[in-house]
Amino acid sequence: MSARILIVDDDPLVPRTLRILLRKHGHDVDAAGDAEEALARVRADRYDVVISDINMPGADGFEVLGRVKDASPDTEVILITGYGTIENAVRGMKEGAFDYVTKPVLDDEMVVVIERAIESVRLRTENADLRAQLANARGGSRNAIGKDPSFVKLFETVDAVAPTRATVLVTGESGTGKSLLARAIHDASPRRDEPFVEINCGALPEGLLESELFGHAKGAFTGATSARTGRFQAANGGTLFLDEIGTASPALQVKLLRVIQERRFEPVGSEETIEVDVRLILATNDDLEEKVETGEFRRDLYYRISVVPMLIPPLRDRMGDIPLLASHFVGRYADENDKPVQHIDDNAMTILQAHNWPGNIRELENVIERGVILCRTDTLTPRDLPPEMTRSVSAPEPGQTLPLRKALEIPEREIIERTLRSHNWNRQETAAALMINRTTLFNKMRKYGLLGKQKGGPANGR
Ligand SMILES: Nc1ncnc2c1ncn2[C@@H]1O[C@H](COP(=O)(O)OP(=O)(O)OP(=O)(O)O)[C@@H](O)[C@H]1O
Ligand SMILES: [Mg+2]
Repeated sequence: MSARILIVDDDPLVPRTLRILLRKHGHDVDAAGDAEEALARVRADRYDVVISDINMPGADGFEVLGRVKDASPDTEVILITGYGTIENAVRGMKEGAFDYVTKPVLDDEMVVVIERAIESVRLRTENADLRAQLANARGGSRNAIGKDPSFVKLFETVDAVAPTRATVLVTGESGTGKSLLARAIHDASPRRDEPFVEINCGALPEGLLESELFGHAKGAFTGATSARTGRFQAANGGTLFLDEIGTASPALQVKLLRVIQERRFEPVGSEETIEVDVRLILATNDDLEEKVETGEFRRDLYYRISVVPMLIPPLRDRMGDIPLLASHFVGRYADENDKPVQHIDDNAMTILQAHNWPGNIRELENVIERGVILCRTDTLTPRDLPPEMTRSVSAPEPGQTLPLRKALEIPEREIIERTLRSHNWNRQETAAALMINRTTLFNKMRKYGLLGKQKGGPANGR
């Protein structure tokens, strides 16, 4: 296997001779004159092996070792130490060096140590891949649960699109399971043994995102000290999952449109055209149609990516799935934390079903995980739920009756008041956030005595 190797030495002669030697063995070799330069390179690019002299003016080889391992834990570091300084060698190994060689560096010795280091890197990546495959096969934690008709339909669509190469657009509020669904499509597709690469478009600054996706040529911008391949190439043959696509800049949108139409692109600063076979799945919690109307999102791109739109409904619209999901999470987190919890009592379930779940399944999962950890018996009760959830609902005590409609007014009032507050009592925004019309909001405010309340005003007792 040919490897990417970085040589760090203040004496330019050493890199030169090593470079000739290692290139003869088919490796790709770069050099850095000091620790700073080495670190910049390791951050900008992937190296399998770093070879560093220990004695350098300024930051020494140990410093290089520590910082390289921080930035890229899988990179193996080989130290070069002066003759007879075994203490250095021992210290280096303790601090995580793969091995050391002593000066004068003998060609054969260097080649052998490097081959071993490369083998170690290779084994480790293979192991990581195996573990990932195992996790996939077990499926366990990634199983999507739900029996609401809307959900069943979603999974019929997964089955229908998985065998194809069609671009899929997944929309849904935060925590509804968009990432899970993307993964499910990949896992059900003929590409399942090929890479699934994901990138969050909202998490990177615009310039970086483009080179992360498409790669860049050497010297394409300051800091681009060598060429780098992007995620599109990494995903070749497999699936590329672009999360938060609604945040893509106009320039990126143009580039995406072209890749989708022509399956080819040029890396940043390069004239070379690269062809890829990649299945695209995109996700967003924005209303893309609205972004198209306001001109923030290209209409042509929207049409291209929404060939197969999949909308995951918010959890509050499929409350019937809550018992199923809650029990599933109880089982998972009891296992994970070695807790005896197996059941959820009726009162706790009523509270779960009355909650509005703005954070959707992720919120439910967190609430249950916390509950399982707090619970001391085999049954989850309201005491194990977050206090702010129990406060908003009062289930009928034994011997008491409380019509469900009436009981549901309590959380409804609470949600409306909270939303009004977070929108500075602006009714138009509140109505939009709750997806009700303004008349409905007005009527409910009147019913719940919220009309007189204003921002900063004294809180009304209930
Ligand atoms: N149907 C489901 N069954 C079981 N677990 C689910 C289901 N849907 C989502 N989850 C779990 O809920 C959590 C949130 O899901 P996920 O990360 O896919 O949501 P998301 O929509 O991508 O969120 P975000 O918008 O924040 O990226 C994950 O832990 C996921 O495993
Ligand atoms: Mg996600």
